[in-house]
Amino acid sequence: MAIDQSGVWRFRDVFPILDDANKAVTLREGNTPLYDLPRNAKALGLDFLLAKHQGMNPTGSFKDCGMTSALSVARERGFEWVACASTGNTSAAMAAYAARAGLRSIVFIPEGKIAWGKLSQSMDYGALTVQLRTDFDGCVRVLTDLVKRFPIYLLNSVNPYRLEGQKTPAFEIAEQLDWQVPEHIVVPGGNLANSAALGKGFLEMHHLGLINKVPVISVIQAQGANPLYRWFTDSNRIMKPVEANTRATAIRIGNPASWRKSAAIIEKLGGWCEQVSEQEIALAKAQIGAEGIGCEPASAVTLAGLKKLVAAGRVQPEERVVLILTGHTLKDSAYTIDYHRDELFTDAERAQLSPEQAAEHAAL
Ligand code: F0G
Repeated sequence: MAIDQSGVWRFRDVFPILDDANKAVTLREGNTPLYDLPRNAKALGLDFLLAKHQGMNPTGSFKDCGMTSALSVARERGFEWVACASTGNTSAAMAAYAARAGLRSIVFIPEGKIAWGKLSQSMDYGALTVQLRTDFDGCVRVLTDLVKRFPIYLLNSVNPYRLEGQKTPAFEIAEQLDWQVPEHIVVPGGNLANSAALGKGFLEMHHLGLINKVPVISVIQAQGANPLYRWFTDSNRIMKPVEANTRATAIRIGNPASWRKSAAIIEKLGGWCEQVSEQEIALAKAQIGAEGIGCEPASAVTLAGLKKLVAAGRVQPEERVVLILTGHTLKDSAYTIDYHRDELFTDAERAQLSPEQAAEHAAL
């Protein structure tokens, strides 16, 4: 049966959201690999560093896990149209699952601010693809207005059924480690739903008695798109949206919808929110690539952030760490080529590097 080949629907007992789970819209998502990163572990002085590669999903990102669940609900409820605003991966996933289900889809993306690979996907899968002259946050505003006026099912990450599917990689990680969960999970933070979903998954497993402890979950943001980091470091704890800017376009988000849920998970599980610079992201991405794994820039913030957590003594050498790599390296090949041709950064940015940092880049 198709759903038994889906890593998400294997766990359907923990998210009974459909009247008939056999009618789920699936592309055999989930069941993604957990790779080890021995060279990066060694460089960090860690015994154990793993990467859960969510980029190995059918459309190349973790979004497929939440899209199979939410799109299935949309179809069961009889919607003909679905829509989302996106920095590229949600739209790719939604377009694919909508096509599979025979539904029409509308995508709003910020013009010129998403990677070509992602834009091409939503066109390939037949979505009505609209580039707006605004940023991601502006796209969300336009879409919110549209779904109020038309019978369109909204598939942004505020959709609760997406979180249900997106929590299943937590179950997979536990299963892949024989239910001995790691001490740390490190997740990139953009709109901040993924960290919340994974936290929900681990907490539910603990509640069910499947695991005997819950990992610490830490969220890493790009320095140029860091509203949650700022919230954690603000003594008054006021959330102020930022004008987001980062080459890691997937997480170029200044006003994240799910920040409260993510902050609650970080605090409950005793984790941290860190920020990393553009140079740190690029270096970490190349270091993941150099182990034969690869990922998109937004995913590489995890390794860059882990370096800071280790340096601050927040991760101990014997503790086991799993990085969540959210997207495939081919999503944004232009970034990779620019980096390795030494064309990604301006001279002014390069001048900011210390000699040690410059040597690390040069070694790759
Ligand atoms: N990594 C990748 C590759 C992403 O595409 C995203 C989000 C994130 C990390 C951040 O996850 O939003 O749950 O904190 N991409 C969304 C999109 C916003 O539209 O594709 P988050």
